[in-house]
Amino acid sequence: MSPTDERQPELGSRALFPELECDAYLNHASMSPWSAPVRREMNRCGDDYARKGLGALMEWRPQRKRLKEKIATLIGAQGGDIALVPSTTRGLIDLALCMPWQRGDRVIVFSGEFPTNVTPWQRAAELFGLDLVMLEAELFRTNEEEALASFESELESRGARLVAVSAVEFQTGYRMPVDAMARACHRAGAEIVVDAIQALGIVPMNVVASEIDYLVCGSHKWLMGPEGIAFVYATKDPASRLRPHVAGWLSHESPVDFLLEGPGRLRYDRPIRSTIDFLENGSLSTIGCAGLEAALDILIELGPTAIFTHVQAYLDELEPLLVELSFESLRASNGHGRSGTLSVLPPSGVEVTALSRALGEAGIICAVPDGHLRFSPHWPNARSELEHVGAELRRIVAAKG
Ligand SMILES: Cc1ncc(COP(=O)(O)O)c(C=O)c1O
Repeated sequence: MSPTDERQPELGSRALFPELECDAYLNHASMSPWSAPVRREMNRCGDDYARKGLGALMEWRPQRKRLKEKIATLIGAQGGDIALVPSTTRGLIDLALCMPWQRGDRVIVFSGEFPTNVTPWQRAAELFGLDLVMLEAELFRTNEEEALASFESELESRGARLVAVSAVEFQTGYRMPVDAMARACHRAGAEIVVDAIQALGIVPMNVVASEIDYLVCGSHKWLMGPEGIAFVYATKDPASRLRPHVAGWLSHESPVDFLLEGPGRLRYDRPIRSTIDFLENGSLSTIGCAGLEAALDILIELGPTAIFTHVQAYLDELEPLLVELSFESLRASNGHGRSGTLSVLPPSGVEVTALSRALGEAGIICAVPDGHLRFSPHWPNARSELEHVGAELRRIVAAKG
């Protein structure tokens, strides 16, 4: 944070969101509003581009290394294990295209997942002749022990090359037992790819301790950065694990020499980098990188564990308000299954889309993914908002009933 900065971030304070219009923004699982520091850094970057054109890119390029170090800090990795990509979807597509597939390889995905973590594997199955198996994510929420046992027995009896799963399910907010799943994968010789966009920034994660092989995450939800920037983490030695099928001009060693260092340097045979940043194959969003770094600075300063605890306290108060109104809470009863999301199903006769619209008109912003009413507060939300949220919920539900 610069010395002239607005205010220091503080759990439960919206001081860094002075223009946020609503009373309670409970939709970080869809998209975060930009904090003043995020906006300031993006403006600073934009101003530089307006003044200097390419000169601004040359000045901002080193920022990417710093950004990767900060991402690595958040997930317990090294900066060199990170590649910047335009979206979670793009990162997963790239991984799906770059696996050294053999015909008939089995890939396990989960129904109930956001399509981002299904479509690329479906396409890869079609392209490479893979055997795509769909298990049920919801079983983990209703009976994690049984779901894990059947996942393990599926891996043991029929094997798999790869498992693709979200760290947190987007509809229910259930935090999947990624550690245990990764261990089961490795016992069976499979790799695990984790979509962390519903987890990172709110759920503390460590890719090394969890033995995650690949993790992909976009910036605009719980990381609180802008759209258009995301990252892929790959465990060590990606060159032996991936084929560079998505390489582009910036994937080569010394890819820009021919633009900067005089004649005779335009070549097409420079090796593709063996580090995961070969996925950085074309021009990236510099302004997105600027915004994401400012967002990460705040998360790192506040600390993922403190943020998680703060949000649980908020949800601990919100959940009974909803249950009292006969909503069915899908929040995990076990602490390890909890995330920043509280999803509920409505009592009969209450239609969630209309309800969420009415809440929006009352200044309470939430989402309705696939018929679930989803609340997702983050570190700036204060429990003092809940009096208004409770009163409006009671009023709107009574009016519908
Ligand atoms: C679990 C999950 N993965 C991926 C996405 C999409 O990510 P992106 O837009 O960065 O591709 C979403 C939501 O938009 C999501 O909930």
